[in-house]
Amino acid sequence: MPLSGRSASAVRQFEEDAMDWSAICASDEVAACTTRAVTLGAARLVVWRDGEGDIHVWDDRCPHRGDPLSGGSVNGGLLTCPSHGWRFDVNGQQVRMLTVASPRCMSANDATVYPACEREGLIWACVTTPA
Ligand code: FES
Repeated sequence: MPLSGRSASAVRQFEEDAMDWSAICASDEVAACTTRAVTLGAARLVVWRDGEGDIHVWDDRCPHRGDPLSGGSVNGGLLTCPSHGWRFDVNGQQVRMLTVASPRCMSANDATVYPACEREGLIWACVTTPA
């Protein structure tokens, strides 16, 4: 059956299956509102779980000066870099402090985000395809 004749969820599942997913750690290794550094081949990743329990996998490199985000803190849906306090929402977009007029910075300041999910007690990510 062609993809155009399938439901949206079937197409999404097909696309997920076609991507290069890797198990990167166990789900219970990343508690709510915590981060964890993970190495996958040459990739340094930060895995973090937000306050809603959703999992996120990003490059472990802050777009500001490249310091590891894995040493940062999680507050609800925000990950804060430990070095200079840049904050990122769950989409990897930098969020400015409330004292700054613009609510968003340039997209060049956003974190590199990868598709991630949890299945069978494991956290999976597709690190070849930024989200
Ligand atoms: S290196 Fe992350 S805020 Fe500066």
